[in-house]
Amino acid sequence: MTLLCTLTSLGAAAPGGSLEAADTIALPAPARTGEMSVEEALERRRSVRQYAPEALTLATVAQLAWAAQGVTDPSRGFRTAPSAGATFPLEIDLLLQGVDGIEDGVYRYLPDEHALRRRIAGDLRDAVASDALGQQALREASLVLAISSVTARTAARYGERAERYVHMEAGHVAQNVSLQAVALGLGTVMIGAFQDEVLTQTLQLAAGERALYLVAVGRPR
Ligand SMILES: Cc1cc2nc3c(=O)[nH]c(=O)nc-3n(C[C@H](O)[C@H](O)[C@H](O)COP(=O)(O)O)c2cc1C
Repeated sequence: MTLLCTLTSLGAAAPGGSLEAADTIALPAPARTGEMSVEEALERRRSVRQYAPEALTLATVAQLAWAAQGVTDPSRGFRTAPSAGATFPLEIDLLLQGVDGIEDGVYRYLPDEHALRRRIAGDLRDAVASDALGQQALREASLVLAISSVTARTAARYGERAERYVHMEAGHVAQNVSLQAVALGLGTVMIGAFQDEVLTQTLQLAAGERALYLVAVGRPR
């Protein structure tokens, strides 16, 4: 099966028909109902650090990205996770490997478009694991979700208080992802132990962006 036919390239095709590296990939619409209650997901959630070697479907990737930062009120741009003054200081990158129809690489989630934009080609799990004290969960994960902050967005409104707000927001996002993962039969572990500067370089974050939190996701083994 090829999912390429279900993907919509919103970017311009390069001469010869190949796709530009900056192509945007539309994601399948997220499910708004599921088979597991919030209570059951809360009861079942446990940090999982060993995963089966399984590639996720694009639908699962889309669901996890939506849980992190999906837009649930398009008229105001409000999202699945709360944000101080709706300043939305967080950016989400997804490390994807083996997802049908998607080249391995690091992709930025675009909440307003519910789409991905490819940023870096290749499998960066080993590099990210090295940046995080060699944590094996990051090497094994089917997907690693990286939460980064642009504190200036929130500081423009709240000054020094922004620092604490963006950290709170990262927690909201990570918890959303972890409960959504449980509801999909997956497991997560939060990763806060890493070398900030090195990880920022590995993820090729822009000036003003800072890596805050990693979430490793995979099927428990
Ligand atoms: C802010 C934060 C940072 C964490 N960093 C790591 C980490 O770097 N590596 C890891 O294996 N677990 C990490 N964890 C997971 C905790 O070890 C785990 O949540 C705790 O042992 C309780 O287990 P539970 O999640 O199964 O309830 C982190 C958790 C939080 C909240």
